[in-house]
Amino acid sequence: MSNKKRIGILTSGGDCAGLNAVIRAAVLAGTRKGYEIIGIEDGTAGLLDDPLRYRKLDPSMFDTTVMRMGGTILGTTNKGNPFKFLMPDGTYKDRTEEIIAGIKKLELDTIIGIGGDGSMAILRRLAKQGDFNLIGIPKTIDNDLGLTEKSVGFDTAVYVATEALDRLQPTAASHDRVMVLEVMGRDAGHIALSAGIAGGADVILIPELGYSIENIVKKIKDIRKNENRNFGLIVVSEAVKKLDGGELMVEHHGGEYRYGGIGNYIGEQVSKMADVEARVTVLGHVQRGSAPIPDDRILASAFGVHAIELVEQGKFDRMVSWSDRNVIDVPIEDAIAAYQEVELDSTLVKTARSLGICLGDE
Ligand code: F6P
Repeated sequence: MSNKKRIGILTSGGDCAGLNAVIRAAVLAGTRKGYEIIGIEDGTAGLLDDPLRYRKLDPSMFDTTVMRMGGTILGTTNKGNPFKFLMPDGTYKDRTEEIIAGIKKLELDTIIGIGGDGSMAILRRLAKQGDFNLIGIPKTIDNDLGLTEKSVGFDTAVYVATEALDRLQPTAASHDRVMVLEVMGRDAGHIALSAGIAGGADVILIPELGYSIENIVKKIKDIRKNENRNFGLIVVSEAVKKLDGGELMVEHHGGEYRYGGIGNYIGEQVSKMADVEARVTVLGHVQRGSAPIPDDRILASAFGVHAIELVEQGKFDRMVSWSDRNVIDVPIEDAIAAYQEVELDSTLVKTARSLGICLGDE
């Protein structure tokens, strides 16, 4: 084995646009500093298999097509917490020592983990237990990680959701319909709020705010009365609750539950109470799988480069962060603790209200 510094890089949690641009940036910048970069496959899962699943990454693999690609060339997983790993026989097992053994076997000095809050928390616990260096790079379309203005993937998700509204508007207008667009975001309404403003929505529903159907119906009727149009656009974030406070979830393979169904629920209610024709689009994973837009490529590149600078400076247990047009770094622990939902007195909430967009609460 060579005596070069060896850095492991992995993507963890749900994929999003821009992950490959992060990997590329870390490989290009790291190789220039003489580091060896090892890509671990499928998050920490690649360290649980025998043989270990990893590959040495070098700049020759990163012609410019990779940066443009959605997904992650390393693969990822949003299941399989190694502290409580679901085994085939249905029991749970702590598999953390196997992961740590894998990191030692590969002689990795540092792990660069590209993930959301859940992944950061797991990797941090692992780093403490296994005594290895960790640097975090925030990515999530939900944009709910604290202490960073942006996480990789968010801008592209907003772009895709906005484009969906752009495509729904003409067909809504042609048929005098109300179009409901259900977007992702987990418990934070960032995608709905941003895309709703950018896409000219009449109503935006986010989980941070309560709503009444009467308020939405009033808005839809007002459009007819005051704006002389018979169509409307409603954006609803997936974690918005039913009127009785119940959550709408869908069970998936392996007993995994995910949000889903609120778009249809709102569509039905509005159609009945406003006496309009409504159609529902659930945007789903389209928001994650697209090629990254320039903003995400730029953010990803800056984050990957800064992560390598942190390795050089020996500054660990830090997460790179976007702040005031620059990359900074913050303690991973603080970023995880500072969950970022939509603030109700934020500029975007005020902007939406001043534009006359109904947020459901009034
Ligand atoms: O956290 C990212 C996210 O896309 C959420 O917005 C969404 O609720 C969830 O992941 C979907 O997860 P899965 O890919 O497992 O369906």
